[in-house]
Amino acid sequence: MTAVLSVHDLGVSFGGIHAVNGVSFSAEPNAITTVIGPNGAGKSTLFNLISGLIRPSNGRVMLRGMDRTGAKPHLMQRAGLGRSFQITNLFFELTVLENLRLAAQRLEPSARLWLPVRRSHRALARVDALIERFGLASKVGELAGALSHGEQRRLEIAVALAAEPSILLLDEPTQGMSHADTADTAKLIRDLAKDVTILLIEHDIGVVMDISHHIVVMHQGKKIAEGAPAVVRADPAVQAAYFGHA
Ligand SMILES: Nc1ncnc2c1ncn2[C@@H]1O[C@H](COP(=O)(O)OP(=O)(O)O)[C@@H](O)[C@H]1O
Ligand SMILES: [Mg+2]
Repeated sequence: MTAVLSVHDLGVSFGGIHAVNGVSFSAEPNAITTVIGPNGAGKSTLFNLISGLIRPSNGRVMLRGMDRTGAKPHLMQRAGLGRSFQITNLFFELTVLENLRLAAQRLEPSARLWLPVRRSHRALARVDALIERFGLASKVGELAGALSHGEQRRLEIAVALAAEPSILLLDEPTQGMSHADTADTAKLIRDLAKDVTILLIEHDIGVVMDISHHIVVMHQGKKIAEGAPAVVRADPAVQAAYFGHA
């Protein structure tokens, strides 16, 4: 099995702080790999390094066997990386349907604009499938800005999927959600993993233990442990750093 994504000795510093410090791990196909760690551990910065928003000062990012270290976000997206941001990334003044269509159309490389009809049909079919899967049929005409917080977070995931990524990066998708919305979103993510490789940052440890296949634990920029949920939970270093007791 070839990893969809692997990072090797990845790092960046801001001023004197090693926000991400020599991190290595792989995300296996159709699995949920979850990055956990306390606030400020470097999780979001790790995602920014992987998705090309920040250039690493050392290390490598391999996507589907190709070295993509330092590639800009739009090139990473074209290479198969999708992400939803911790900060919401929707066009609030557009409808649910318009948000999805825009995201699906962004797939189409400008060099192939002489094939718009065929590609558009594929994009529209993709949008229909997402509306169905995410239960958005009754919401398609609503402005994204008028949706509830939970609905917006789920629409963001649908928008990220519209570009048909090989791997989907989700940074705290359940943040600010009610208990019921969190449970629904966890179920949705588990379901999505049948079709797309997932790299997740999640703070709800119950959700993490429930849906993750592989967990990477970060603390102060470094990876301090990784493994299956039961292995990570039993790790003394993880208990000390993350759960705050030994
Ligand atoms: N653009 C930036 N400039 C300076 N410092 C940053 C920047 N982004 C993150 N940091 C710092 O890097 C560290 C890791 O932050 P972050 O990756 O957001 O952690 P997490 O997502 O695990 O909470 C923190 O100390 C944070 O203040
Ligand atoms: Mg973060």
